[in-house]
Amino acid sequence: MNITLRDITFSYDKDPVLNGINAAIEHGDLVALVGPNGSGKSTLIKCINGILAVSEGEVLLDGTNIRTIPTAERARKIAYVPQTEHKAVPMKVFDAVLLGRKPYIFLKPSNSDLEITSGILKQFDLEDVAMRDVHTLSGGQQQRVFIARALNQQPDILLLDEPTANLDLKYQMEILGLLRSLTQQNITIVIAMHDINMASHFANRVVMLKQGSVFASGGREIVTAENVEQLFQVKVRIIYENGTRFIVPVE
Ligand SMILES: Nc1ncnc2c1ncn2[C@@H]1O[C@H](COP(=O)(O)OP(=O)(O)OP(=O)(O)O)[C@@H](O)[C@H]1O
Ligand SMILES: [Mg+2]
Repeated sequence: MNITLRDITFSYDKDPVLNGINAAIEHGDLVALVGPNGSGKSTLIKCINGILAVSEGEVLLDGTNIRTIPTAERARKIAYVPQTEHKAVPMKVFDAVLLGRKPYIFLKPSNSDLEITSGILKQFDLEDVAMRDVHTLSGGQQQRVFIARALNQQPDILLLDEPTANLDLKYQMEILGLLRSLTQQNITIVIAMHDINMASHFANRVVMLKQGSVFASGGREIVTAENVEQLFQVKVRIIYENGTRFIVPVE
């Protein structure tokens, strides 16, 4: 699905937190949303999701205003992994991931719902902990459960707010690699993330947010030392390792 953000403005109270955001996200894009703390990444993700109603402008999914899409249909189309997941009631990992099938389940899960859930658990390396309570897992394992639940929803659009913050390096690479491979299967992904190198490695489009406005957007070539310095107010330099470009801060 395409996501069009047209002149979006949003305020929690008086002052706007998002200021005239425009973006055209294409079907199959993996977009990294980067920017300083408080720049509006989480707020923008909640606007795309429809959790927050924009004050001005519109969010269009394949040209249709999100507000006119019935809630049940929206639940099947969009999956969202929030930045901080409040601990849910004690629940087995299997059941927590099965919850992703909720928009499809009528009365009780079908065999296909159970099969799809088992497949996702395997894909996320969660088979061994499937019968454990979610709240007994480590932070990173829990994060994998939440991402698995979102994908179990088989959404057209997947929104993730700092999904790799709790993950060790191996799972950061695995999950981001998995997400990138999913874009081949008709899914559009938007990820708010802080690691600028991971963003430019895995995303095909980068949107830089600064104080609620788009500071720069485009392909990964916009992740230049100049842009990163201006965006985060730090000095950086570029290093090359085996042909890959890395941005590192300079003290
Ligand atoms: N529920 C709220 N009520 C009032 N103001 C809020 C609320 N949530 C966020 N804000 C404010 O909106 C601005 C943008 O916050 P947001 O959480 O979108 O930033 P962010 O880019 O996701 O930051 P971070 O990198 O820290 O997650 C901040 O100034 C924040 O204080
Ligand atoms: Mg945030």
